[in-house]
Amino acid sequence: MKTYIVGNWKLNFTVGESSIYLHKLQKKIPNYRDVEVVVAPTALALQSLSLQIDRHKMKLSAQNAFYRDFGAYTGEISFAQLRGMVDYCIVGHSERRYIFGEDDKMIQKKVEAAVRNKITPILCVGETESERAFGETADVIRDQVLGGLADVSEEDIDKVIIAYEPIWAISSTKASKLASPDEIAEAVKLIRKVLAELYDKETVEKIPILFGGSVNPSNAGAYLTVPGVNGLLIGGSSLILSEFTDIIEVAKRVRA
Ligand code: PGA
Repeated sequence: MKTYIVGNWKLNFTVGESSIYLHKLQKKIPNYRDVEVVVAPTALALQSLSLQIDRHKMKLSAQNAFYRDFGAYTGEISFAQLRGMVDYCIVGHSERRYIFGEDDKMIQKKVEAAVRNKITPILCVGETESERAFGETADVIRDQVLGGLADVSEEDIDKVIIAYEPIWAISSTKASKLASPDEIAEAVKLIRKVLAELYDKETVEKIPILFGGSVNPSNAGAYLTVPGVNGLLIGGSSLILSEFTDIIEVAKRVRA
């Protein structure tokens, strides 16, 4: 299985800045066979970047899309419209869940729409700080995994990526708010256990699980060596070219 390094640019960079960043990134990194580098820019830049991107070196992801293919859904972009333009789409990011009110039902439809349109969904799951404090982590992860994947058959699950992103560890500057390798290992084990309720054991082992939450060049190595972790979903650090390329280097070293 490849190691995935996914940069989620969120609501940052204009279209022009996105293009300049991509240009510099492509110049800086060679083609790493075992490391799948993915960037998720603003939706506005997807079309132009899809023409600019060197797909041998990296892939493009959307940050979100709507589950209907077309119709009266003002302001939305569909997976059908993104088909052929992007290889991946982040689905159910905690910012979508908690700022924009997306629930498991909606996320389930988005995962299904992504798969139907040949786009790999990166399904994000993770508990809040208070859910962890109340001992609800396992239940929350279970509900989010089962909810998100309810429409994905055994045949299609190999086209899905899961990202474990504990919300309390996202965009954190405090060391106490960083997820420890043990906490991540436990959550990833739990995710695979829940997946095994839905799919064949052998299939489950092949589903990539990424970790996200304040990943930077200094902690990337430790996170990438957590048993069961197959890559990283990176927000803040992916906006700084030198940090993002350092993380890609770390991934390459860990794979070597
Ligand atoms: P962060 O964001 O790396 O800035 O914590 C991760 C994410 O939200 O995907």
